[in-house]
Amino acid sequence: MDTRVNTVAAGAPVLPLAGQRALVTGASSGIGAGVARALAAAGATVVLNYVGPDGAARGIVHDIVETGGEALAVEADVSDEAAVRAMFREMFDAFGSIDILVNNAGLQRDASIVEMSLADWRRVIDVNLTGQFLCAREAAREFVRRGVIPDVSNSAGKIICISSVHDVIPWAGHANYAASKGGVQMLMKTLAQELAVHRVRVNGISPGAIKTPINHSSWSTPEKESALLQLIPYGRVGETADVARAAVWLASDHSDYVTGATLYVDGGMTLYPGFEKGG
Ligand code: BGC
Repeated sequence: MDTRVNTVAAGAPVLPLAGQRALVTGASSGIGAGVARALAAAGATVVLNYVGPDGAARGIVHDIVETGGEALAVEADVSDEAAVRAMFREMFDAFGSIDILVNNAGLQRDASIVEMSLADWRRVIDVNLTGQFLCAREAAREFVRRGVIPDVSNSAGKIICISSVHDVIPWAGHANYAASKGGVQMLMKTLAQELAVHRVRVNGISPGAIKTPINHSSWSTPEKESALLQLIPYGRVGETADVARAAVWLASDHSDYVTGATLYVDGGMTLYPGFEKGG
């Protein structure tokens, strides 16, 4: 049995993603930015998807290129089918194909159920869930068409779906967000089941509280941070690097036999911390 982990050509420095091309959605800030930088540091060529002002994404591209990497920023609203297809075309024109998709773009529009507008429900489902479907579909089409390139990876492609602890923890006041993440969980598992025959691996990362702009109000003062820590047995709020390291592993052949799995990167938030002393 051949159990080699495809890392690099003989003699080259050991970079687990050397020669691979990655697309990270929502890469201009937060977890997406951290993942894009980490994939580049691991040797991948990275396309950073963003919406709105391009300054932050271009800044990250600049940093990657300055340290000898290869990167490109591409604007697209991931919930827009034509924009997603145009983004993949731009990536293929620039780099030829795709080996890794990190479905990360996501947002919150919080409201109690009695206050929640249909527009806010739809926007969250459109970006967080339909956006993952549209990008996964384009990536899967290319992986299936192209197949395995043995010198690059043991898989024909890897898809990493960034979900949330709220794919299993209900979250009052966030029905649209929790529903979108529960959907991401089953989208991920179903694609893993469907695409394994093509040697495509699909996995999820479900982060807990990670210090990013999306939850700034939950850790921006010492009082708020200590309230948040009541929910985190490990005793610290997460950093984007915590998630980025998991993404590099799931994207690399080091996780070659892992598909359909979710890594909860949450400092124990899903361990029902109230039961440490209660129950
Ligand atoms: C949310 C954050 C929240 C965290 C833990 C994430 O999915 O986007 O706002 O802090 O879950 O509750």
